[in-house]
Amino acid sequence: MCKFNEIIGYKTIKEELKEIADILKNNTIYENLGACAPTGLLLHGEPGVGKTMMASALIEESGLNAFMCKKDQPRETFVATIKSTFEKAIKNAPSIVFLDDMDKFANGDGSHPDAEEYVTVQSCIDSIKGKRVFVIATVNVIRNLPTSLRRAGRFDKILEIKIPTGKDAQAIISHYLRSKKIVENMDIVALARILEGLSCAEIESLINEAGIYAGYKREKSITMEHVLNTYLRSVYDIKSLQFNRNETYDLSNPNATYSQIVYHEAGHAVVSEILCPNSVTIVCAHNKYNQYGGFTDYYEDENFSPIYWKQSRIVCALGGMAGIEQKYGIVCAGSKQDLSRAVSDTYKMITQIGTCGLNLCTFGYQEDSAQRLAMQEYVVNAEIEKYYRKAKEIIAQNRDFFEKIAQNLAQKHVLTSEDIQKLKSSCQIVSVSL
Ligand SMILES: Nc1ncnc2c1ncn2[C@@H]1O[C@H](COP(=O)(O)OP(=O)(O)OP(=O)(O)O)[C@@H](O)[C@H]1O
Ligand SMILES: [Mg+2]
Repeated sequence: MCKFNEIIGYKTIKEELKEIADILKNNTIYENLGACAPTGLLLHGEPGVGKTMMASALIEESGLNAFMCKKDQPRETFVATIKSTFEKAIKNAPSIVFLDDMDKFANGDGSHPDAEEYVTVQSCIDSIKGKRVFVIATVNVIRNLPTSLRRAGRFDKILEIKIPTGKDAQAIISHYLRSKKIVENMDIVALARILEGLSCAEIESLINEAGIYAGYKREKSITMEHVLNTYLRSVYDIKSLQFNRNETYDLSNPNATYSQIVYHEAGHAVVSEILCPNSVTIVCAHNKYNQYGGFTDYYEDENFSPIYWKQSRIVCALGGMAGIEQKYGIVCAGSKQDLSRAVSDTYKMITQIGTCGLNLCTFGYQEDSAQRLAMQEYVVNAEIEKYYRKAKEIIAQNRDFFEKIAQNLAQKHVLTSEDIQKLKSSCQIVSVSL
């Protein structure tokens, strides 16, 4: 199979790469038009997003000889290797030099603009001008490269390969599930929302691990639960159960940790679902990264305008605290992080976006006057109060939904978007606007 076909998603990037491959392959067509072939292409992005795969696909499509160079030897000999790679490419032109993981050529502890390796690459690129040698490089952290190396004329085209989202993420998940034995009703859309933020390589390995987990449990096929368990273990490092799965808890005890965790998370989830339907991807009653409490994750749908989404996130952050107050009439200790996030986001909205009037914005060309700072502080406090009242109103209006989430969370410990939607459809939902 052609390597381009192995790349799932990334339609626009693939088009760009095919266009470059065509320029390299059919150079005379472009030359007759007076157009020059670019000198170099730089692909950058997080590990595992497919940069090496894409560079290899371009090389294959171009049909040219390629000479690869990767840091696999000490500095003393590596500089000579870089030079000889370019020399070989010149001898075999038209050709391609492929510098894989170029940001690892010099020490990986930050920017080394004067590192001998980069200086060598730069002078080698300058030496191939007019010799029909094309350079492709891949890097994780583009800012670690010297700016002179990145400029047009050396790398004319710079493409960022992002973590897959939306339909791309769904296509990649479906692709990796295709070779596995999975249950029929696996909800790929929900899964893609949960796994958002993972690279293609991470998705691939997670799905494989889910298969191993299902095998160990002697199950006949992989279920959503297997993928979810693997995800919680590998992404959030959730290994130990905070409370026993088989025990029935008395949620009427307001001072029990589990009562506070489930109602706190139920508060977040209800607020998010009412303000932004279908936004909750996962609600978990276990701590992640050894933090206290549980967590609720959300998916930012492009249908929500950025300001609406930001404001709803503030109300949502306060939803945990509001949930405990609504249920038990007490203030819980586990809302410190939520509160500081809500306050700092409200401050940013007021001072950077101007949601409460331009006169409260910090413009940066001069220091804020004491009067402006006092006004900002006053308005931030008033806004936080308003958002907190909104969170309580949403929970009060949707008490049944709130209770159902808490009860189910206490039983199952983890609720997916599918569970939340089922619970939602069994309740009378009252929509509340911001
Ligand atoms: N778009 C994609 N479609 C299908 N599989 C992909 C895709 N992107 C990555 N993969 C899978 O992830 C693996 C890692 O990809 P690749 O080595 O190209 O990533 P990379 O971006 O070069 O990572 P690194 O920065 O660590 O070098 C590939 O072998 C492939 O199995
Ligand atoms: Mg790579």
